[in-house]
Amino acid sequence: MSNAHHVAALSMFIALLLGGCGIRVRSLPAAPDAVYTRGVVAADHVIASRAGLEMLERGGNAVDAAVAASFCLAVARPYSCGLGGGGFMVIHLAADEPMPARNIAITYRETAPSGVSPDYYVQLETPDASRIGPHAVGVPGTVAGLFYALENFGTLDRATVLRPAIRAAEEGYTIDADYVEAAREVLDDLAEHPEWIDLVGRERFEWFRHRFLFDGRPRVGLVLRQPEAARTLRLLARDGAAAFYGGEIAAAIAGACPAMSVSDLARYEPRASRPITGTFHGRTIVAMPLPSSGGIAMLQTLGLLERRHGDLDAAACTSADYTHLFVEAMKHAFADRAQWLADDRFAEVHVECLLSGAYHDVLADRIDVNRTRPTNRYGSSGQLPDDVGTSHLSVVDRWGNAVACTETINLSFGALTAIPEVGLLLNNEMDDFLTITGQSNAFGLQQSARNLPEPGKWPLSSMSPTIVLGPDGRVEVVVGASGGPRIISSSLQAMLNVLLFDASAREAVSAARFHHQWKPDVLQFEDSWADAEVIEAMRARGHQIGHRDDSGVVQLIRRAGEGYGAASDPRKGGAPAGR
Ligand code: GLY
Repeated sequence: MSNAHHVAALSMFIALLLGGCGIRVRSLPAAPDAVYTRGVVAADHVIASRAGLEMLERGGNAVDAAVAASFCLAVARPYSCGLGGGGFMVIHLAADEPMPARNIAITYRETAPSGVSPDYYVQLETPDASRIGPHAVGVPGTVAGLFYALENFGTLDRATVLRPAIRAAEEGYTIDADYVEAAREVLDDLAEHPEWIDLVGRERFEWFRHRFLFDGRPRVGLVLRQPEAARTLRLLARDGAAAFYGGEIAAAIAGACPAMSVSDLARYEPRASRPITGTFHGRTIVAMPLPSSGGIAMLQTLGLLERRHGDLDAAACTSADYTHLFVEAMKHAFADRAQWLADDRFAEVHVECLLSGAYHDVLADRIDVNRTRPTNRYGSSGQLPDDVGTSHLSVVDRWGNAVACTETINLSFGALTAIPEVGLLLNNEMDDFLTITGQSNAFGLQQSARNLPEPGKWPLSSMSPTIVLGPDGRVEVVVGASGGPRIISSSLQAMLNVLLFDASAREAVSAARFHHQWKPDVLQFEDSWADAEVIEAMRARGHQIGHRDDSGVVQLIRRAGEGYGAASDPRKGGAPAGR
């Protein structure tokens, strides 16, 4: 369908229900930021934030800091991200005469290996094969992506940026409450699913259980040392990406994964492209293109909000009117995610149409300020466990360069499948494809046939690293999150807490959140949401209400005068580091 037809077809369903949105003021709990003027890194583990800061102090730029912090996270949050996974990075390079300012998006998402076909998981007839064990593994992209970023946009050498990660792997670190919770959750799942051990392979499983689950007895204060990972990191420092995508490591990964060949690894390439951009309240939003669904969903949501609420900046957050408007806009974005979005190298996706002002006019006009609608009235068509298997970090350096970087091995501890000899944990990113038609993925996300697995294809992602530039072109906000589809809603809420309500970074990140992903048709409030009146007002507008403990983990940096405030989400226990 052409863009014009697409919009015309949508307009048939328009109900013009414009109305006012009087919004009550409700302030966020006051939590002023420390202000950093010489650069800051906000990761979800303080070891990683400090690794990034170490690079800034050595004279490195934001990319050096992000790469050092990412490698360190592979060691410090092995259940969230790592060398066996993939990610996205959005970079803003400030103008540096004679170079103008530039924005770059790097995709290093895992690809489907050559042995899969669209009906691979149907044929396998093995429950959970897309989530647990070696069939779940996509070709890892993290090493290629991080070295690509370093070589093209960084200034320091490999050995320098890898040093903090090698140190953390060799010397070890004490595990925190978040680590213990993640490990205990996996142990509970394994008690319910003892068959997973055979899916993974007993020997690999025993090593994983010993190394990462502390033989079934994880507790805060134990020290995690990773000597095998340290050796691998040293090899990468010496030989670069070639050491991962060829030789002993590639052979070990391909040997463990039935659908993957050494050629799949040898062929792996990250993609550098232009980010997608939109405007909101005079700012430029620099967001991740496909295969991230997050950039498109965020720009759609912001486009709708801007249209329905010209005076949002004079309003208050977490009021019923604001919450409803936000949720309705997000439901449209998630409906379009389910229907249209996929790897655009394999499926035709009308991104310009989805981001066009005309289309946003149509969708914005369909929002009823008094009532939510049946699910088939969202988007242009007619979906959830906790996700601790992703990690986001934000960086700004003293020159005004910025990096937003989100990485993952998908679900907590990925496919639970390790390559012991090189200390790797492999992803289960194949579950982000539509693996069995009619079934939703681990996040409850429904997806179209456009997102069926094919060799070399990237599964659709919700990861949404984003940079907001102010009217003066300088970095105003760097944001992103972990949490599966909640990445989109939590990043947006934290960003808008800054842009609309001038929250400090700590306030923006700590504030209680809500989430809706169109299907299932449930509006979820975090348990910490204190205003029962708002929840009742949402019920009165027809929303089905649910509750959950946490909704996403956000790392955000915001401009504060001539410096920057930064926050790592208390939900995961990280801390920023800066000067
Ligand atoms: N693996 C979660 C995502 O990429 O959305």
